[in-house]
Amino acid sequence: MALFLPLLCLLSTLSYAHTSSLTLPVTKDDATLQYLTTLSYGTPAEAAKFVLDLGASLLWVDCASRATPSSSLNPIFLRSIRCLTAKTPEIETQAWLYSLGSPDQDQACQIPAENSITGKRVSEGDLVEDLVHPSHQLLLTCAPTLLLNGLAAGAKGMLGLDRSRTSFSSQLFHSLGTQRKITFCLSSSSGLLQFGNVAHHSLRSLTFTPLLANQDQTYPSINVNSVKIGGKKVSFSGGAAQLSTVVPYTTLQSSIYENFSSAYLKAALSLNMTQVAPVAPFGLCFGSGGVGSSEVGPSVPVIDLVLQSEMVKWSIYGRNSMVRVNDDVMCLGFVDGGQNPRNPIVIGGYQLEDVLVQFDFDTSMVGFSSSLLSRQTSCADFKSASMPATQSVSPW
Ligand SMILES: *[C@@H]1O[C@H](CO)[C@@H](O)[C@H](O)[C@H]1NC(C)=O
Ligand SMILES: *[C@@H]1O[C@H](CO)[C@@H](O)[C@H](O)[C@H]1NC(C)=O
Repeated sequence: MALFLPLLCLLSTLSYAHTSSLTLPVTKDDATLQYLTTLSYGTPAEAAKFVLDLGASLLWVDCASRATPSSSLNPIFLRSIRCLTAKTPEIETQAWLYSLGSPDQDQACQIPAENSITGKRVSEGDLVEDLVHPSHQLLLTCAPTLLLNGLAAGAKGMLGLDRSRTSFSSQLFHSLGTQRKITFCLSSSSGLLQFGNVAHHSLRSLTFTPLLANQDQTYPSINVNSVKIGGKKVSFSGGAAQLSTVVPYTTLQSSIYENFSSAYLKAALSLNMTQVAPVAPFGLCFGSGGVGSSEVGPSVPVIDLVLQSEMVKWSIYGRNSMVRVNDDVMCLGFVDGGQNPRNPIVIGGYQLEDVLVQFDFDTSMVGFSSSLLSRQTSCADFKSASMPATQSVSPW
C-alpha cells in the first residue's frame, strides 16, 4: 500500500496542474504592432480577438458585434455589491450609495471603459456577467463600438491583466482556484499567455525582481537602478519602469533618452557601426552592412538594465534592441517619449519578445528569462511543451 501513496500524490498533483491553468494564444498585428489573444465567450460561444494590456483591468468587448446575442449574458445591477466592487477604483462609492435610493431598481451598472491605445474613454460601459470558455463566469464590460477605433483590424475589445480585484486575470485566478501567476511569451509570430500554475523547465531559470506596488496605479513596474550600454554606465539616476504590451517600443522621457542614446551612439561607434539618418519613430539608426550577427540578433552593444543589485540585470541583445527598417538600415528600438510622459520609462513589446515573463502576484515578483534565442528556443517551443495543460481547458 505504502508504495502506491507517492504515485497517488503524483497523479493528483498532475491532475491539479491540468485543471489549474488556462493558456491563450498570442499573435502580433503587423499593422498596429498590438498583441492579440483569442477568447470565446457567451452562448452560443463566439471567438473574438482582444488586444492585451498588462496595465488595464476589465475585459471590455463590443457586445453588439456578436453574430448572435448571448443568451448566457446576465446584467449586473447598480445596487449590487459586484457593481460597487468594480467601481471602487473610480471612487464612486458616494454616487453608488446615493443611487440606492433611486426608484429604478433595475438600473444597469455602468463603469468606464478605456481604449488605452488611443486614450479614448467612455463612461457608459455596461457591466455584465457571461460565460468565458471553457467554464468561467466572468464580469465583462459591454462597450460601445466606437471604442474599437485604433485597435487592430478584427479586434473586438481589450483584455486587462492588472492586479485589481475585477481584472480579467484576478477573476480567472479565482475561477481556476489557482496561484495568481501570469506567464507570457510575446513573439512576432506565435506567443502565449498562461494563467495559473504552469510547470516548465524554462521557468526554473527565471531571474526575479520585485513588482513595485504603486498606490494609485495597478500597472506592473520594476525598479531600474542603473543602465549599462556595452558595459559602461549611462548617466541616469534610476527609477521605476513600467512593463507594457500596448507600447510597441521602450519609451523614455526626453532627458533619459538623450543620455541613453548618446551613450548608445558612443558604444556603437566604438564597434565601427555607421550612423545613418534616423527613420521615424526612431532617433538613432545605423547601416546594417558589416554588422555581424548571432542567434540573439545583430552584434550590437548590449543594453543592461541593472535591477535590485549589480548581479541582477535584464540584458537586451540585438534581437530586442535593433529594429530592421529596410535591407540596409536598422534602428535602436527605443524612442523619445517627450518631456512629460505619464511614466518616465515604459518597457515596450519589442523588448519583451522571445523572453519568458512571469508575474507572481502572490509574492509580488516578476520573473524574466534571458532571450530564449540564446538557448535556441522560442515562445513556440514553450507552447508545445506546455500542451498537456492546455488540452484539458482549451477546447476551441
Ligand atoms: C544626463 O546626464 C547629465 C550629465 O552627465 C546628468 O547631469 C543628468 O542628470 C542626466 N540625466 C538624467 C535624466 O539622468
Ligand atoms: C574599427 O576600425 C578600426 C580601423 O579600421 C580598427 O583598427 C578596429 O579594430 C575596429 N574595431 C572593431 C571593434 O572592429
